[in-house]
Amino acid sequence: MPARKYELSHPFSLNDDTAYQAWRECKLEDYPERVEDLIVEINDPRRLTKAEFKTIHERCRKTNMAIYAGSTGSDPDKAIPRLFGEQFGLNELDCNMGADGDGITTLQVVDSEWRGSYIPYTNRPIHWHTDGYYNRPEQQIRGLLLHCVAPAVKGGENTLLDHEMAYIHLRDANPDYIRALMMAEVMTIPPNVEDGIELRPARSGPVFSLLPDGNLHMRYTARTRSIEWHPDPLVREAVGALTALLASDSPYIYRATLQPGQGLISNNVLHDRTGFDEDGEHRRQLYRLRYYQRMAGT
Ligand SMILES: [Fe+2]
Repeated sequence: MPARKYELSHPFSLNDDTAYQAWRECKLEDYPERVEDLIVEINDPRRLTKAEFKTIHERCRKTNMAIYAGSTGSDPDKAIPRLFGEQFGLNELDCNMGADGDGITTLQVVDSEWRGSYIPYTNRPIHWHTDGYYNRPEQQIRGLLLHCVAPAVKGGENTLLDHEMAYIHLRDANPDYIRALMMAEVMTIPPNVEDGIELRPARSGPVFSLLPDGNLHMRYTARTRSIEWHPDPLVREAVGALTALLASDSPYIYRATLQPGQGLISNNVLHDRTGFDEDGEHRRQLYRLRYYQRMAGT
């Protein structure tokens, strides 16, 4: 049974501490502790040179993310992030409720329309999360790309943490935390109901899960309002340990405020966003691309 053998020798199997320790050692060796280590200067994001591609790809293999600093500045062409992502095998876009017809979401402050009641379209802070935690299990978001056209006057900073580093932190503290957070119905998101109409049913699922290719996936939100956690006391402890990590000054937590032409490419790592200020001339504008795939070869 090859599948079983694979599972038994997997670093994310709780039954195989040897494989985990070997993977952990490799992961932590020379792990970047400064956001500058993630930034890769490039020319045109639409057409990376071999060297540019290789550098970004290597960063992502290590940390599940990289920040590119391209030459397109405030050019609002959506093809820039789309073509950038395609070079990393990212092409299955999630057409979520806020996305435009092309599957790319413009993140900017919107006063009217329905978007105004959703925090991503306001200037308010967004707590730690991975994208699409309310998606159905077969439509989980594995890749996430943010591209900046214009920053805010002040704020709008993203804080970033590789979800594999969160996994290591929790498993080292207590492997049962991982067991608890892998339970099938550990975190339930309430239904999205507006004017008595259910736009999305409640969604239950694990925090940590394994993808068919053996990679680790994380589904998480730090929002507390109406999130239902499984009543097992270990779950509460595990979530508490994760919350403490996210609030800590861990050197593995990076902070970045994307500038025009810069973007974040990632395997949907943990992130948050600070609130921000705008004025009449400076309106923050970012594109968000959510994919059902991880970056190829990472
Ligand atoms: Fe997000």
